[in-house]
Amino acid sequence: MPFKTIIEPFRIKVVEPIRHITHAEREAALKAAGYNLFLLKAEDVLIDLLTDSGTGAMSSEQWAGMMRGDESYAGARSFYRFRDAVQGITGLKHILPTHQGRAAERILCSVALKTGDIVPNNTHFDTTRANIENAGAIALDIPIAEGRQPQLRHPFKGNIDLEALERTLSENKGRVPLAFITVTNNSGGGQPVSMANIRVASEICRRHKVPLFLDCCRFAENAWFIKMREEGYADKSPLEIAQEMFSYVQGATMSAKKDGMSNIGGFLALNDDELADQARNLEILTEGFPTYGGLAGYDLEALAVGFHEALDEDYLRYRIRSVSYLGEKLTAAGIPIVQPPGGHAIYIDAKAMLPHIPQQEYPAWALSLVLYLEGGVRSVEIGSVMFGMQPDGTEKPAAMELVRLAFPRRVYTQSHVDYLAEVLLYVGDLRKRIRGLRISEAPKVLRHFSAKLEPAHGKLLV
Ligand code: F0G
Repeated sequence: MPFKTIIEPFRIKVVEPIRHITHAEREAALKAAGYNLFLLKAEDVLIDLLTDSGTGAMSSEQWAGMMRGDESYAGARSFYRFRDAVQGITGLKHILPTHQGRAAERILCSVALKTGDIVPNNTHFDTTRANIENAGAIALDIPIAEGRQPQLRHPFKGNIDLEALERTLSENKGRVPLAFITVTNNSGGGQPVSMANIRVASEICRRHKVPLFLDCCRFAENAWFIKMREEGYADKSPLEIAQEMFSYVQGATMSAKKDGMSNIGGFLALNDDELADQARNLEILTEGFPTYGGLAGYDLEALAVGFHEALDEDYLRYRIRSVSYLGEKLTAAGIPIVQPPGGHAIYIDAKAMLPHIPQQEYPAWALSLVLYLEGGVRSVEIGSVMFGMQPDGTEKPAAMELVRLAFPRRVYTQSHVDYLAEVLLYVGDLRKRIRGLRISEAPKVLRHFSAKLEPAHGKLLV
């Protein structure tokens, strides 16, 4: 095609107004929210890039599917559609629907882990880490070294460090009940994992008789990157690539609020019969009967359609291109971001952008606040507020200070993306005036969701 303009591969049938409030109103809203963007009212946000989780727009096919939802308590037709869709992609034997990803994590961690166990991953997402730690086990992050250097380009920066994996399994025999790979590696910048990396990791795990799991929230985006970047996959469909990815693992946890293209849902998938039995029993106790797992029949229908829509080539091309387009604009303007841009989000490297703010004063958090104050844009800090608190209560700066701008699926258009670029460049010019924060109030775990902060030097912008 001779045309370069990125167009959304869909027409819009339903619209939802968004509204501008004034700078002064945003300043007051920030103060009232204790300088925590999670505590804002969503209607005070113009462009909401807090997360790509559960925030997408469903298709007409999904809405049509919802009308077919079978709300039977047990054995609903909708469950079988859901199960078949998941099995068609993953090939895994037991499929337990859950209301979202962390429910799958909690069930798996409860039945598979005990105190002192170790669970390696390229990088654990915060809920995965919290569920592992809640079971008394240790969540170990072992991304490749390139994955820890924001501005270094590498096609598969989400890869797990295979040597570290081998070492962990050899040195801790009997203490590693399972290993994870997260695709794409959200906490490491939304970076993909190569097929070769998954394959070799699975060989290592098999040799040590440790089941390998995928945290597969963004499996379709990962498949797209493999198609674009890994030799031998250019002519394969995203579905075939996803099927191969799953063929190397014995289980998966999924937040279907991402590549399930739905507003709620998830699953735990397992090959092990005994573990699956235990998981089902626990699921009945806390999520619901295993043919609905905390979801409505209509949710299961929307998901069955969504898993396949996420693998559509036109959709994936538009989505990944739209994110990299923003990345190119920021890079051209000298705003440091994790390179190359990830699948679902742009991650600004706040440590590099705001070198005058020490990590103890949360530079990424400060930047995310200024993006809201100036442009009404809500992002999320992935830095020391999120990860700085250690299980023993001490504070240790996070490896990276990132601000994530996550793109909801099929929600914003290219003109929204152009607006974002304008806001970011504007804030880039203000960078020297931004000041850090201190935490005034925080819970013991997952503190970023509800902590209250205050400017450490009187004002956020001087
Ligand atoms: N694993 C990964 C890699 C995730 O990104 C998330 C959620 C989860 C597990 C947990 O799933 O929210 O359905 O319970 N990530 C969202 C985000 C919240 O904003 O990145 P959940």
